[in-house]
Amino acid sequence: MNIAVFASHGGSDLQAIIDGCKNNQINARVSVVISNNGNSMALQRAEAEGIPAYHLSANKSGNEEALATEILDILAKYNVEMIFLAGYMRMLHISVLEKYNNRIFNIHPALLPKFGGKGMHGMNVHTAVIKAKESETGVTIHRVNAEYDSGEIVAQTTVPVLKNDTPEILAARVLDREYEFLVEVIGDIVNGEITLG
Ligand code: GRF
Repeated sequence: MNIAVFASHGGSDLQAIIDGCKNNQINARVSVVISNNGNSMALQRAEAEGIPAYHLSANKSGNEEALATEILDILAKYNVEMIFLAGYMRMLHISVLEKYNNRIFNIHPALLPKFGGKGMHGMNVHTAVIKAKESETGVTIHRVNAEYDSGEIVAQTTVPVLKNDTPEILAARVLDREYEFLVEVIGDIVNGEITLG
């Protein structure tokens, strides 16, 4: 299965997916990486792995519609069958959501529907979890629709919140859990246990 990964920042989740494919835990390949951030480590990681990597953004393309056309052209060029958003800070255009309906997934570092929605990303999530005195948090992988973090949840795993956690400590613990969880769940998508289309 050809997977496209979209990422905006560090790309450590992307790296986990690439490594899962390389060591055959995932019977698929990352055939293209797209980022809205030309300086993202995600693009550098893709290039280091010899994976086609594109910096695409509404600014570069001119507007959202032109960006969507460019994205769709690239997804077709690499015969993409599934899209995974791994720290992608933009909403996909409706034309992309429709074309790949039910075949786009996102990973969120909390137990949705709690601590999700617009603005709930990165450290904001973990700060809110600690402020709410939660005893546990976790990771959610869900299908992507036109609302932030609100598509069908396909998998969740819990991560403990410890007494003296700072948002940074908690973020690191959650991110660490993401890496193995990503490989497990994407493996289930590729082998059909989690359906596409
Ligand atoms: C992860 O925390 C993920 O849950 C969220 O974005 C972050 C990606 O981190 N969607 P990285 O850029 O892959 O290191």
